[in-house]
Amino acid sequence: MNIVIFGAPGSGKGTQSERLIDRYGLHHISTGELLRDHIARGTRLGKIADTYISQGQLIPDQLMLEVLGEIFKEQPETAARGVIFDGFPRTIAQAEALEKMLKGYGTEVHAVIGLEVDEDELVRRMLERGKASGRSDDNIDTIRRRLDVYHSQTAPLRDFYRAKGTYHPIDGNGELERIAGDIASCLDNFKDN
Ligand code: AP5
Ligand code: MG
Repeated sequence: MNIVIFGAPGSGKGTQSERLIDRYGLHHISTGELLRDHIARGTRLGKIADTYISQGQLIPDQLMLEVLGEIFKEQPETAARGVIFDGFPRTIAQAEALEKMLKGYGTEVHAVIGLEVDEDELVRRMLERGKASGRSDDNIDTIRRRLDVYHSQTAPLRDFYRAKGTYHPIDGNGELERIAGDIASCLDNFKDN
């Protein structure tokens, strides 16, 4: 089973992914974590990514796709085991490329879990995290830009996946455990059918 965990910045993609890994034994690919790791190691990619991330902008599709392609090439068993994609795809071009790539491994995106959270709550969560995260994008100006980028470039993917019948909206406001329970019910239901 390949799952995309989808939602605005701060919607809980990383938090809920951790639970799904335990429950379903899936491989977690967070493109944000991957890029932050490159930044921390000072790689060529990290240096490029840093300029975009600290401005709240997406890194170019081509670059993002190269990084992802490399992971699959290095660990071909990843696709077979099933993946939770967190923070990817973020543009229609990325979604189309993902479809093509998974097809090459004889698989597809089975479900897209859309965490839907009120905007003021997103801002509150990211500002709270920013007190300790050290993330260059957890400040109010960059948070606003990330939300704008989400609405203009990423939110259209909801319609892309709705048209395929794979988009499952989940209320991402409120208690962590309740949200995790709603996601599990959705996926268990899906697995049984
Ligand atoms: P990325 O790392 O993906 O960040 P993001 O999408 O902005 O989202 P976050 O990681 O901030 O939030 P999240 O949804 O994971 O929520 P979390 O669980 O942490 O991307 C960062 C940047 O990298 C992008 O801006 C872009 O520049 C670049 N990038 C990444 N992928 C890319 C791609 N595919 N293409 C191009 N560029 C890309 O939760 C947030 C906080 O809230 C935490 O502190 C958490 O503890 C708390 N929390 C979670 N759930 C709850 C709850 N229910 N109640 C209260 N608090 C909660
Ligand atoms: Mg995250």
